[in-house]
Amino acid sequence: MNKKQFLMILGFALVFEGAQCKENEVFVAHGSVAVLPCRDETSAHSHPTAVYWSRIVGNVLKTVWRREKSGLEFRPVRDPPRVNCPVPNFGKADYSLHIAETTIEDGGKYICEVEGKNRMQKVINLRVVRASFSPAVVVEGLRTDATCHVSSGTQSVRINWKRNGKLTRRKSFTSVSQKDGGDWTCQAAYNGGVVEATTSLQVKGIVTPQDDSSVVYAALGSSVSLPCVFTDGLIPYTVMWNRTSTTSYSPLPLPASFHESAGPSASATIQRVEDGDEGMYTCSGMMKGLNGESKKVQRTMELVIARVLRSSSSSGNGPVTLSCHLSNSSHITSYEWLRVNYGPNDTQTVTSVQKTKSFRIKEVNEKDAGEWVCRYYGEQGVLGNVTYELHVMGAVKSENSSSGNKTAMVMGLGFFFLVIFLVLFQMYRNYRRKKMILLYPAMETIVHQAATEREKRERSRPKMAEDCARDPKPVCV
Ligand SMILES: *[C@@H]1O[C@H](CO)[C@@H](O)[C@H](O)[C@H]1NC(C)=O
Ligand SMILES: *[C@@H]1O[C@H](CO)[C@@H](O)[C@H](O)[C@H]1NC(C)=O
Ligand SMILES: *[C@@H]1O[C@H](CO)[C@@H](O)[C@H](O)[C@H]1NC(C)=O
Ligand SMILES: *[C@@H]1O[C@H](CO)[C@@H](O)[C@H](O)[C@H]1NC(C)=O
Repeated sequence: MNKKQFLMILGFALVFEGAQCKENEVFVAHGSVAVLPCRDETSAHSHPTAVYWSRIVGNVLKTVWRREKSGLEFRPVRDPPRVNCPVPNFGKADYSLHIAETTIEDGGKYICEVEGKNRMQKVINLRVVRASFSPAVVVEGLRTDATCHVSSGTQSVRINWKRNGKLTRRKSFTSVSQKDGGDWTCQAAYNGGVVEATTSLQVKGIVTPQDDSSVVYAALGSSVSLPCVFTDGLIPYTVMWNRTSTTSYSPLPLPASFHESAGPSASATIQRVEDGDEGMYTCSGMMKGLNGESKKVQRTMELVIARVLRSSSSSGNGPVTLSCHLSNSSHITSYEWLRVNYGPNDTQTVTSVQKTKSFRIKEVNEKDAGEWVCRYYGEQGVLGNVTYELHVMGAVKSENSSSGNKTAMVMGLGFFFLVIFLVLFQMYRNYRRKKMILLYPAMETIVHQAATEREKRERSRPKMAEDCARDPKPVCV
């Protein structure tokens, strides 16, 4: 049997070293189904007695799939079987071999041999295309190597890399960034077709923000979160936040209300953004690479503070200009001023007023009191907003305050004046009493007793008018 097979190889080698070889190269992507064609072109219908598929490994033929004259099928012991030659196709004179989940090891020469009305032999070279990264999981800033492997053959193959469906020139991955993470496709173009194999690169490090170009906007007085999220399951063993000035990169202290959050996210919060908090914030962490080496990863983001500047003539109801100011406006494309009104159920109605950086109110009325919002836009859309509360002299703050509130206010004022009157009245009486004591020091105790008794009597009596009538002293006003 071995001898026969060896002779067969020799025979095939002689037959297929010729021009036919090129036509019989089959390209397939790693992991997909390879179909090795073996058709009897001489007849549309065929009823073969036997089909043999074998593979040349070294100098030996190894059976891959085989169907005997008797109808018995043989295939290598494997669970589940990856190799199949669908028998129903035989009626159409198609004896192609199907290999599922092709691996790079499947690449090589295969021989199809059919014994039927006429004998047929074909050699097919299977060429598997595989894309890979080594390592496929890498800490940002470290190196990985991309390889597009095509198993050997005679045809020349052109290799290109594609990213998000577009061809890219990128070949080197000496310092991987977060943006490199994801799928990369290797395109193998040969004479007559293209095969694409995809692989994915996983980049460990800081996922959010992705790079150092992010800008965080915050209104003065508001709270803001500075994001710094590390890759899932990869917690750095130290996280540090630093701050530098935007212009000189000199270190600055962190704001008073700056807090690092606990847990896997290293994001920080500034509870109340104050004047001067703008600048560059850097979050950094030490991470272990896959080979155990330490690698520092860091992200820098800019905090931009938004505020409304008011300019007006000092006298009462003159013109007022509200201006939207950002500590760095280089990414701002436009501004919009909005008026916010509150309805009965705390319902907000927002009306666009003007699409400018500054907004001028010619004459400030009571109706202008309340919330004005400046919204600022960048290329991607709304970046943020800042609210200004306009106070108007003499304005009742809420136009919608109910009549119930007004009644309460009138009653409150009345009560207030009544209390003032009673206090003054008592003070005057005390003053009178002291004067009397000074005039007649000997009578001090007697007068005091009398006064106390009178007070007692007065308290027990309801009507002040009667006392006034009886009391000879001009106490009542
Ligand atoms: C950040 O600040 C710490 C002190 O708070 C300092 O030791 C460290 O060197 C700084 N790191 C950078 C990158 O400036
Ligand atoms: C403003 O932002 C731009 C772009 O982020 C930066 O180049 C510039 O240095 C910043 N300017 C100031 C004054 O912060
Ligand atoms: C205010 O809210 C109440 C209860 O949700 C609702 O019944 C009522 O219709 C609302 N009024 C207005 C003016 O929206
Ligand atoms: C202003 O920004 C806050 C926070 O993003 C948002 O909730 C609010 O609706 C914005 N206000 C306006 C008027 O756009």
